[in-house]
Amino acid sequence: METKKLIDESSLYVMNTYKRFPVILRKGRGMKVWGADGKEYLDFVGGIAVNILGHCHPRVVIAIQKQAQRLLHVSNFYHIGPQIRLAKLLVQHTFADKVFFCNSGAEANEAAIKLARKYAKENVSSDCFEIIAAENSFHGRTLATLSATGQKKFQKGFEPLVPGFKHVSFNDIDAIKQAITKETCAIMLEPIQAEGGVIVANKDYLGEVRKICDEHNLLLILDEVQTGMGRTGKFFAHEHFGIIPDIMTVAKGLGGGVPIGAMLATDKVASAFTPGNHASTFGGNPLVCAASIATIETLLEDGFILDQCNRMSEYFIERLVNLREQFPTLIVNIRGLGLLLGVEFTRECSAIVNECLELGVLINCTAEKVLRFIPPLIVQKKDIDQLMHILQKVLRKLTE
Ligand SMILES: Cc1ncc(COP(=O)(O)O)c(C=O)c1O
Repeated sequence: METKKLIDESSLYVMNTYKRFPVILRKGRGMKVWGADGKEYLDFVGGIAVNILGHCHPRVVIAIQKQAQRLLHVSNFYHIGPQIRLAKLLVQHTFADKVFFCNSGAEANEAAIKLARKYAKENVSSDCFEIIAAENSFHGRTLATLSATGQKKFQKGFEPLVPGFKHVSFNDIDAIKQAITKETCAIMLEPIQAEGGVIVANKDYLGEVRKICDEHNLLLILDEVQTGMGRTGKFFAHEHFGIIPDIMTVAKGLGGGVPIGAMLATDKVASAFTPGNHASTFGGNPLVCAASIATIETLLEDGFILDQCNRMSEYFIERLVNLREQFPTLIVNIRGLGLLLGVEFTRECSAIVNECLELGVLINCTAEKVLRFIPPLIVQKKDIDQLMHILQKVLRKLTE
């Protein structure tokens, strides 16, 4: 009753930008969440790759509680202790020398686009502004990141888009070579096109792109908003490919559940930004940085969670391969890295998501025909077994 009333009020008061399931989630612990009606769900969505340590991880909760009692927010007019500590932690564990903090993935990408343009204008040529991005990519919903995104369905109705983006097919080196002009300043890619249906960069692709960037004096921007923070079994996905970018964007799992984004860069590139060039009122505020420090320290401690992610990934893939053998007419492909896994179906899969919800498991469908699994990195075999049991039931019903 309470649920229905609240959902009715949602359509009265909340702007209609999300297609939502008729569920209100009220409490979470680890891999589980509970609805306002008390129903329990196993969560393989994890807030879309956000809750990397599961729901309400005690170290993150305690860090938030402690920081909330000390200082919630101050302006970036002043130095902020947790922000400095978080930047140092990120620099110590990545290629980067400097970090800019913001509040979301789209904002991190906006910052990256601005930095690339400014760097190129000052260091290459004042004509340089164009960024080559990939078809089928996803970089966010602000106007510039929407323009960087290579999917028309998200752009429709919002034209004119921001100029300065050219799209080429993903995993196609020749297409990139042909797209470069004297106006190009950067190449912007996701190591795995996650929203685009979990399409992994080919083994040598990013290495080749890195080479092209070096040869043509272009910056390589990697959008690791979804693939970062241990999601693929390494701290950042580009580590699988043996390359480093010039600029990297991070968000989602960075705060373990609180809204924070970051744009990381080498000193050489970061030096193009000077005071007044870019800012965010809430960027790197004490509360979110405290949560993020606790999240990263927990993630990287003893490599335990990354090991667990890799072990569970292997087991998950084994079980998915087994599922494909049982349902060869439904499943055409299994792909991904770590715990960013996609299963491509021969048909649209929103019905599968709805059935799973009914049976107490949260899963996600992207690119219409792909089930995308992005659970917390603490997922265990028993959780995967429970998911498989329910998926088998749902797929069996579909093939009857
Ligand atoms: C690769 C990538 N970049 C950017 C974004 C945008 O992030 P946000 O929704 O935090 O703005 C997303 C969100 O799904 C993403 O997957």
